[in-house]
Amino acid sequence: MRYWLVMPAAGIGRRFGAGRPKQYAILRGRTVIEWALAPFLGDRRCAGAVVALAAHDPYWPDIAPAGVIAAAGGAERSHSVRNALAALSGRAQPHDWVLVHDAARPCLPVRDLDSLLSRLEGHPLGGLLAAPAADTLKRDDGEGEVAQTVERAGLWRALTPQMFRYAPLCEALDRAHEARRLPTDEAQALEWLGHRPALIEGSAVNIKITSGADLALAAAWLQSAAESSE
Ligand code: C5P
Repeated sequence: MRYWLVMPAAGIGRRFGAGRPKQYAILRGRTVIEWALAPFLGDRRCAGAVVALAAHDPYWPDIAPAGVIAAAGGAERSHSVRNALAALSGRAQPHDWVLVHDAARPCLPVRDLDSLLSRLEGHPLGGLLAAPAADTLKRDDGEGEVAQTVERAGLWRALTPQMFRYAPLCEALDRAHEARRLPTDEAQALEWLGHRPALIEGSAVNIKITSGADLALAAAWLQSAAESSE
């Protein structure tokens, strides 16, 4: 089993508002992106890693781990992912697995990475980690009132890593961009071509940092993970 890691890290974090992009916020003494990279950089199955960065990113050079390839970020997340995939051209084979993991997700449990890899090893297409929706879901009417309660059964929150084969993933993103469509995750680009990515249940602790409150939650989780491994 061998895979390549692609990490979109070119967001500039307009919503986060901490003076620096959220992937460079400090969490238990390291940046969020260092935590996000850690499970992969210590994994013998990872053949190589590419990180997509914003132009003139001043933070990356200080923390760049040896051997990680830097690619130019794009206007949207899917463009950043596509640019990072292009940097693997000539290295990755068409059938190779690629794992795409957000730089803003510092709490991926190693057991979730293992279950994604083992569940999808022989799969023809690939899939993603996801968590079943836990709350009752409401759709608003645009005026701050409930228009509808959405049936929760069968709804999942898409997480990362998302795991697909190199050539079909490149093609799906190219087709989406040619049609001027912006998938918000890799699975959606493949769904638009009629594919059905596999849902692999992952832990809800694998949060995406969006606000300062998320940083506190991530810190608490990382602390308890460190204590339980002592
Ligand atoms: O903004 P959002 O939380 O959806 O970003 C998810 C991931 O995509 C983050 O790691 C962010 O840095 C990355 N991203 C990117 N290029 C963009 C926008 C977001 O690599 N243009």
